[in-house]
Amino acid sequence: MNNYQSRSNYHHPLWLRLSPNQMLKIAKSILSKTLPSHLKKKYYQWQAKNKPKPPLVKERLLENYTYDFERFYKFSTAKKGSNLSSNLFPKYSHLTQTNLKALITKDYHRIEKGLALKEPRIGFGKNTVNNLMAAIEQYQTLYGSDELVQISINTLLAYYQFNYQQGHDNKQLYEQINSVKDKIIEDQKISEGGTKTITKKDIWKNAKQDLKNFFATRHSIRHFSNEEVDLSLIKQAVEMAQKTPSVCNRQTSQVYVFSEFQDKQKVLSFQNGNRGFGEQASKVLIVTSNLQNFTSVGERNQCWIDGGMYAMSLVYALHSLGLGTCCLNWSVEHTVDQQLREAVGINDSQAVIMMIAVGHLPDELKVAQSPRKKIEEVLIIK
Ligand SMILES: Cc1cc2nc3c(=O)[nH]c(=O)nc-3n(C[C@H](O)[C@H](O)[C@H](O)COP(=O)(O)O)c2cc1C
Repeated sequence: MNNYQSRSNYHHPLWLRLSPNQMLKIAKSILSKTLPSHLKKKYYQWQAKNKPKPPLVKERLLENYTYDFERFYKFSTAKKGSNLSSNLFPKYSHLTQTNLKALITKDYHRIEKGLALKEPRIGFGKNTVNNLMAAIEQYQTLYGSDELVQISINTLLAYYQFNYQQGHDNKQLYEQINSVKDKIIEDQKISEGGTKTITKKDIWKNAKQDLKNFFATRHSIRHFSNEEVDLSLIKQAVEMAQKTPSVCNRQTSQVYVFSEFQDKQKVLSFQNGNRGFGEQASKVLIVTSNLQNFTSVGERNQCWIDGGMYAMSLVYALHSLGLGTCCLNWSVEHTVDQQLREAVGINDSQAVIMMIAVGHLPDELKVAQSPRKKIEEVLIIK
């Protein structure tokens, strides 16, 4: 308010100096004291009718789907087209490193999968091979050589060798492979990529264990001991969870670990299911899935699947190390999701899947029985 207004206001009578809200309040109070009861009722009815309504569930759903849609559209490569052929080379310049990594992984894995069939088709996947070759050349130019380049090269070599053994010698591909390979520093070389031969005996030796009891003894834990969970245990569990299957082996999941009391409290303050035990957790984890890994419209919900499966592996891995866990839902609307991201520094490209409270078990504790449905309700045999 400038001087002129304040000075002129000063000369107005009191009621003219009140704000509209103050006037409304006074008017309401006079009305409620003076109006006869039948008019008062009518007034209240009118007031209730004209009260601003909270958005309908349908509107909120739309708003939240839009939030997911916009982030998927922005970060995935769906809009850019996943079939980037080598003659459309400049297309790669629009991509982030993670985008490019996802496309490369998708393609090298397509070749690995093809080679792992009982009877691979000679010369299969020519477009994929060309795409992959062009993408790793570009990747190497932009970012140098890393494990992904080496895995891709190893896969392409396995592909070349398979075809060579079948009488198809693709010399051009061999030269291209070697030109990328020559740029990889010797002591950085790794052998992964392609296929490996395994036996049923080996699988059975390690996999045929009594998992029934392992599954049966995992409970959601809501009572932890005071003992600190060493970070090395979390690392071991994450290492195990890395074996989780993911779409085209793109490994979209990440795990954020919070150990400091204040950080854990901050994270948990956005979550609605940890009251009474969250503060006892020695570590609070947030599992995310990076949207930059997804390449088509059909994959719009893939983050929830990849991330959910990863979280499950992680929970079982922690269980195998003797730790207690409780999954904590991230069933929130976009406003809360944004608040958490801002508070703890999680990029918009990450879909938050869930939190996991982790702690050591006390000697004795109660768990919810959480009875399960009968198998007949679940297993539909067609
Ligand atoms: C995605 C997900 C979110 C969950 N969120 C919560 C939560 O916020 N708070 C909680 O106390 N339990 C939570 N739980 C634990 C479930 O209540 C529990 O898994 C279920 O009742 C089965 O019990 P059990 O885990 O002991 O076998 C969650 C579980 C899942 C899978």
